[in-house]
Amino acid sequence: MRGQLAKVKESVAFLEKETKLRPHIAVVLGTGLGGLADRIKAASVIPYKNIPNFPISTVASHEGRLIFGSLGGKTVAAMQGRFHFYEGYEPREITFPIRVMAAMGIKTLLISNAAGGLDLSFQAGDLMLISDHINLTGQNPLRGDNVDAWGPRFPDMTAPYSRRLIDLAQKAAKDLGIKIHKGIYVGVSGPSMETAAETRFLRIIGADAVGMSTIPEVIVAVHAGLKVLGLSVITNVNDPDNYQPAPLEQVIATAKGAEPNLVRLVEEILRRM
Ligand code: HPA
Repeated sequence: MRGQLAKVKESVAFLEKETKLRPHIAVVLGTGLGGLADRIKAASVIPYKNIPNFPISTVASHEGRLIFGSLGGKTVAAMQGRFHFYEGYEPREITFPIRVMAAMGIKTLLISNAAGGLDLSFQAGDLMLISDHINLTGQNPLRGDNVDAWGPRFPDMTAPYSRRLIDLAQKAAKDLGIKIHKGIYVGVSGPSMETAAETRFLRIIGADAVGMSTIPEVIVAVHAGLKVLGLSVITNVNDPDNYQPAPLEQVIATAKGAEPNLVRLVEEILRRM
């Protein structure tokens, strides 16, 4: 773990030389949502591959760069492209950028993803605020020695998603006339999609949307004491009784279609923060 601490320090030292900005808000852009980055008045754009110890994104739909700049009138650090367990990364690697950003002074994490809807009243292209999550990945990024300087051994998870930020986001969506749901995100490891029986199970245990990301980052963010707002773009709706494939192209196209609303909403949320 000492190794991990030293690695984070090395990455932070590098980034603090690359940018003068010291944002308090980080934004993680999910599958098909990297275009939100175009709205950032970027001061520094740093490819992950240049950052010491950063994992490198392998998914074609993810860009893989850290952007420091201004969005919605706030200084932000934005991750364009993230890491998934299904790509072969360890949970500690997936969450390494969150550790680095927390060490740089980030206090709030705005995290987005593409997810499959399990609530059959949802429609493809809808947005959902994450009110809580179910970790079904079988993994936990905090496994192993705890770095006490980072956070507690058994972090409290009674409210991983900030109620204040959820309220703020709901009001912002209402004022913009953007329909938004609130629901529970279940994280699975993927990369195979869920079977019909699994989909039925996920709904029965209380989930409204399913995806293959976000959970590790949120656990680490909570451990580090960050306030978290999670936003899912529902790219497909999974009805186990009339189950249809959701190919990646469709997931990406739907996420892209929903992006203008997501962009407007995220900018408005930032403005009000
Ligand atoms: N299942 C899992 N992950 C997803 C889905 C899905 O249906 N859609 C987008 N990401």
